[in-house]
Amino acid sequence: MKLNFIAGIFVTVLAGSASLAFAGLVSYSPGSGVISSPHNMNLYLPLATGGANNGDNQQQVCKFCHTPHNTLSTGQASYSPLWNHTQTTQNFLPYVGIEEGDYMTEPDYLDKSASLQAVIDPADMMDGPSRLCMSCHDGTTAIDSYSGKMGSFTPTSNHVVLAPDGAFGGANGGNLMDDHPIGFSYGKVAALDPYIHQPNANISWIPAGDRKCTTISELLYKGDKLTCASCHDVHNTANATAAAPLLRVKLDGSKLCLTCHDK
Ligand code: HEC
Ligand code: HEC
Ligand code: HEC
Ligand code: HEC
Repeated sequence: MKLNFIAGIFVTVLAGSASLAFAGLVSYSPGSGVISSPHNMNLYLPLATGGANNGDNQQQVCKFCHTPHNTLSTGQASYSPLWNHTQTTQNFLPYVGIEEGDYMTEPDYLDKSASLQAVIDPADMMDGPSRLCMSCHDGTTAIDSYSGKMGSFTPTSNHVVLAPDGAFGGANGGNLMDDHPIGFSYGKVAALDPYIHQPNANISWIPAGDRKCTTISELLYKGDKLTCASCHDVHNTANATAAAPLLRVKLDGSKLCLTCHDK
């Protein structure tokens, strides 16, 4: 891992495969594992806070998210793999495919665009990994709030924050209306929409070397729900097919999109 500091931003000098388009603070090689990735908070926090050493005092990497004992598994997340990061308490607004303004005058997730088959119930749309991701990507929960300690660094950059709090005030702060839909049954949509691939089909239309899955079901929480982890590999797992930014299928030629969409 080699970092170059140029005019206030870090750029990658690695392997050529890491795309500058997604360059965050930490440059990395896709597929090289979590330690050298943007998800190693010990690399990220000192850079983000201008050199202050507020990483883990033992430089533990997993600890920001997992711990072997005394986990923080109580909270709103339905899925807590030995979870050790403070969980977001926000409610999130779903993608409905219509103007946010129109939706907000009379919020009802059944009031959606004509083309959208997915029915996203805000009450359970964050099931599975999604709520865990938003426990750092919500712009409200401090990145260094883990092991029960109150952290102090909450990023504001669009690169990290997907759903800024308070977009509409009050409990509906987390706005995911302008993001790819998550938190719905993929199987139900595939049964209705002929341009969505069947979840159990062998993904033969994407070259095997460009994806880290054989069927779409493998990408879905409990084999059915589309979540953040359907597209993203949080651990940047060592595998030649991984792609930036932490994706499970390569983005060139929009292969990730064509994994599910028959377009
Ligand atoms: C930035 C947060 C983060 C860090 C750091 C992290 N994980 Fe995870 N981990 C997650 C999330 C989120 C999930 C659930 C998402 C999923 O299953 O795709 C998960 C799931 C897991 C799982 C269960 C699912 C599976 O993939 O087997 C294991 C085991 C795991 N992590 C081990 C580790 C280890 C070991 C480390 C450190 C070397 C680590 N993780 C570092 C966030 C993290
Ligand atoms: C412990 C906090 C934490 C958790 C939990 C977490 N992230 Fe992140 N993630 C970050 C931070 C901080 C960055 C920005 C790092 C940087 O800019 O170098 C980041 C960066 C990213 C990036 C951009 C990577 C790139 O190439 O620049 C993606 C994509 C991402 N996270 C997705 C996820 C997903 C999906 C999950 C859940 C499965 C998740 N994150 C969970 C803290 C977290
Ligand atoms: C349908 C696939 C898909 C889903 C679902 C998805 N993402 Fe992404 N995400 C992407 C792609 C593709 C990019 C890169 C977009 C680009 O820059 O062209 C990305 C980029 C990001 C980035 C980096 C943003 C930046 O500006 O650099 C973060 C952080 C992120 N995603 C987090 C999440 C989280 C958290 C969730 C769940 C709430 C999620 N993603 C759900 C496909 C997805
Ligand atoms: C894991 C499977 C999967 C991946 C990967 C994926 N999508 Fe989707 N996407 C879906 C499903 C399922 C829906 C809901 C379709 C529906 O309701 O008819 C959807 C919805 C959409 C919609 C909204 C349709 C509407 O009617 O409002 C668009 C646009 C879209 N996806 C584009 C993309 C793009 C672009 C990418 C790549 C960056 C991508 N998708 C990646 C499964 C996926």
